[in-house]
Amino acid sequence: MTDPLAVLAPLRATITSSTRICALTGAGISAASGVPTFRGGSESLWENVRPEELATPEAFHRDPAKVWRWYDWRRGMVAACEPNAAHHALVALEAACDRVTVVTQNVDGLHQRAGSRQVLEFHGSLWTLRCLGCRREVENHVTPLPPLPACDVCGGLMRPGVVWFGEAIDPEVMRASVDAVGDCDLLLVVGTSGLVYPAAGLARAGKESGATVLEFNLEEGGVSAWVDHFVPGSADATLPLLVPEA
Ligand code: OAD
Repeated sequence: MTDPLAVLAPLRATITSSTRICALTGAGISAASGVPTFRGGSESLWENVRPEELATPEAFHRDPAKVWRWYDWRRGMVAACEPNAAHHALVALEAACDRVTVVTQNVDGLHQRAGSRQVLEFHGSLWTLRCLGCRREVENHVTPLPPLPACDVCGGLMRPGVVWFGEAIDPEVMRASVDAVGDCDLLLVVGTSGLVYPAAGLARAGKESGATVLEFNLEEGGVSAWVDHFVPGSADATLPLLVPEA
């Protein structure tokens, strides 16, 4: 088994103020905070529900109250969780480098709560609601929500501001994410199975642009075959080892 410190200590020594870092994060970075991942293990989200019953526009059209119950449960659960040492390590890297961009597939908002300043939410956010009538988006942290939240302006039905299966990534977020992975020296791929596209393609794009790619995960997955360094272990234990001492 690779010793994480043996991999990370030499890389940590190369980090200077001019190092540009991009972190592509997935559900595994929030696992130590108590947020369930999507795949793997009996407690994972897709183990217990079928995505197409809850995370598609069709499911919402069919039964918006049922879909909202699930998102409201997730909002309440995440509200009770705290960012962990992996989220905080990415914040600490900002003190060491000019640029740290987080591209996250997570919708939990834990990077922002930890204090990361540059976060691109690739799959949207649990804390954004969008009106199906006038398309207005609002930030909303109320838990629990009323069963069918309505727009303050037009009275239309609000939907979760997340990206569902079959939906496109916001073009601006996509452009900024491609730029971030394509213009970094170190790409940290943290806690993602690397199975869901187009997010998984971002890691490859970073590699092809010349970044050194480090993967932090409990086990090997969709991108491990070609990353430069695989760092085994829980991200809350391993990612802090990359942070230069202040
Ligand atoms: P997954 O649930 O697919 O994968 C979680 C990954 O985290 C796995 O590779 C685990 O091995 C790893 N992991 C678990 N605990 C960890 C820990 N403590 N430290 C490090 N790694 C750990 O989650 P994502 O890859 O984020 O999309 O899933 C991608 C997308 O699939 C999600 O954004 C969601 C889902 O369907 C949408 O809802 C659109």
